[in-house]
Amino acid sequence: MKHAFIAVLLLAAAAGVHGQAVAPFWAYGFTSAGPEPAPLPCQPDSKPLDCARVQPTRPKEVVHTLPDARGKFTEYEVHFDYGPVDWYPEDHPVMPEIVARGRERDKLRPCALCHYPNGHGRIENASPAGLPVAYTLQQLQAFRNGTRRSADPRKANTNEMIQIARLLTDAEMKQSAEYFAAIKRRPWVRVVETESVPKTRVGVNGLFLPLAGNEWEPLGRRILEVPENPELTDKTRSPRSGWLAYVPQGSVDRGRTIVQTGGGVTMKCETCHGAALQGMANVPGIADRPASYLIRQMYDFQAGTRVSQLMKPVVAKMTQDDMIAIAAYLASL
Ligand code: HEC
Ligand code: HEC
Repeated sequence: MKHAFIAVLLLAAAAGVHGQAVAPFWAYGFTSAGPEPAPLPCQPDSKPLDCARVQPTRPKEVVHTLPDARGKFTEYEVHFDYGPVDWYPEDHPVMPEIVARGRERDKLRPCALCHYPNGHGRIENASPAGLPVAYTLQQLQAFRNGTRRSADPRKANTNEMIQIARLLTDAEMKQSAEYFAAIKRRPWVRVVETESVPKTRVGVNGLFLPLAGNEWEPLGRRILEVPENPELTDKTRSPRSGWLAYVPQGSVDRGRTIVQTGGGVTMKCETCHGAALQGMANVPGIADRPASYLIRQMYDFQAGTRVSQLMKPVVAKMTQDDMIAIAAYLASL
């Protein structure tokens, strides 16, 4: 009797206050549901507008180059806030000023810093390459007017995205939306079903990086997404080096069923996202996007911090395991 009571308490604690599972903090780049020990780097209305977490200073004397790249650059130049190195200009159209260098006098860092010059983006941000112009403009407005926020207010880079959207001129919005729309997508995420994963640490802005020493731990019910080549991504920001999503065994098949049939919890995704899930009209593509990004978005829609009349009913009944399966399948495409 007493044991049964304790079991119920434990279940209730695991399920959280409203019967909802604890937020998937791992998809937002945190190792616990919070609160965060350090103060938040920026609040939505803060001035000055610098939301960046404290970044390690990159060495000016270490020089890098990449295969087929146009030159050699110091690690400092590679990571320079207001004009990071563009390794492969041939991979994308000519960048507008706002995409390449931002606007330093307003602390507006350039799109290329977080989304890479090729728009495929670091997984802790987003992957806007190939998105329809109308959709991108809509999202920039949503960030600006408060209808697209992160369900995890600790997510500093989303807060910074919001402030950037507020400061962009109409012309800059149009230029950057057209720029990203013109980029052809290349394969970006590789999915591996597994039971154990490398132990990781969390880098700046919530990117998990494997620890040196080859130690492993159980994956459990989450997705762990890391750079395909951690050293290369960390030091050189190579925009041709993609990402590896470790997902639970069986999740790709389960996700395929939900995406293609609704699986009894939702609707078929292709109805709105197109037969190949590459998007249509002003609906975004969802195939081969970072798995952690997809989970963040589904959870944000469910939590209501990202407002969408069309997506709200789609995610309403999804459990976290459903989201994991869907993200595993979509990222694998
Ligand atoms: C400091 C990093 C950072 C910079 C700089 C940045 N972004 Fe973002 N961006 C993000 C993050 C983080 C997200 C994901 C927001 C979320 O959590 O939903 C995002 C999301 C987006 C999205 C939504 C993509 C989708 O699939 O819905 C678009 C569009 C976008 N950014 C455009 C831009 C443009 C245009 C610029 C330059 C003017 C820019 N970003 C600069 C971090 C950044
Ligand atoms: C009724 C139409 C509809 C259906 C069905 C639908 N979606 Fe969407 N979805 C949308 C629209 C519209 C958006 C853009 C939302 C916005 O305006 O913020 C979207 C956005 C998304 C995004 C965010 C993409 C990004 O780049 O940020 C994800 C993830 C997503 N949908 C997943 C799914 C999945 C998974 C399914 C199937 C289980 C699905 N959707 C079914 C209409 C739909």
